[in-house]
Amino acid sequence: MATANARKPLISGNWKMNHNHFEAIQTIQKLAYALNSADYAHVDVSVHPSFTNLRSVQTVLQADDIPIALGAQNVHMASHGAFTGEVSANMLTKLNVSFVIVGHSERRALFVEDNEVVNEKARAVLAANMTPIVCVGETLEQRRSGGAQDVVGEQVAHSLAGLDAEMVAGLVIAYEPVWAIGTGETATPHDAQLMCAYIRSLVTELWGDAAAQALRIQYGGSVKAATAPDLLAQADIDGALVGGASLDPAEFARIANFRLYQP
Ligand code: 13P
Repeated sequence: MATANARKPLISGNWKMNHNHFEAIQTIQKLAYALNSADYAHVDVSVHPSFTNLRSVQTVLQADDIPIALGAQNVHMASHGAFTGEVSANMLTKLNVSFVIVGHSERRALFVEDNEVVNEKARAVLAANMTPIVCVGETLEQRRSGGAQDVVGEQVAHSLAGLDAEMVAGLVIAYEPVWAIGTGETATPHDAQLMCAYIRSLVTELWGDAAAQALRIQYGGSVKAATAPDLLAQADIDGALVGGASLDPAEFARIANFRLYQP
């Protein structure tokens, strides 16, 4: 089955603040059981447990040689120091973490992270040889007032400010409209495609075509097994950042295997 473009899709499970470490171990074991090597040939998969569960999940992935990438949900921008309660990028690298979500809308809204903070975190992730998944997305009010593209454009430009084209080529942007997160409301494939195409055109403008063509753009916001195939059939959607549905390994495996259900 043809994928929409040459970029390998990345399906990421953001477990948010769910699962203790026992539950995390069970979840990763069930997920690994539901996917096989043919699946990994078509899709990259990452899971993003809480900090307290990273080591447990890493041990399972390593012991059984499972090609699921380990991801974190957040990071602090400093390399070390007196930042009580925070976790540095180097600590994550040491645990074989390869992807780090930065600027999730919950962190932007609940923990007051602005584009400058997101930019510093993205740089820290890159400096530690990991890949940032930089989240952007508009609120319902911003969409209703017709300002969605401006908001997302500003988030992309400022969150990635100062990065060079090679860095941008290697990273992941997740377009997650805030109104679609945890609400059961999904952007239509057409609307999601429009915004992802806009993001790619902006990246072309700011960093050049090679970076824009290499960059992976995920869609996130109430993605389910039933909605993933149509969303991922869109030309500029290269993956999904999945919240609630990633807690169920069978459902998440079906999302990762979206190609089998594509129109
Ligand atoms: P839901 O899939 O639960 O809407 O969450 C999306 C999300 O925020 C992923 O980062």
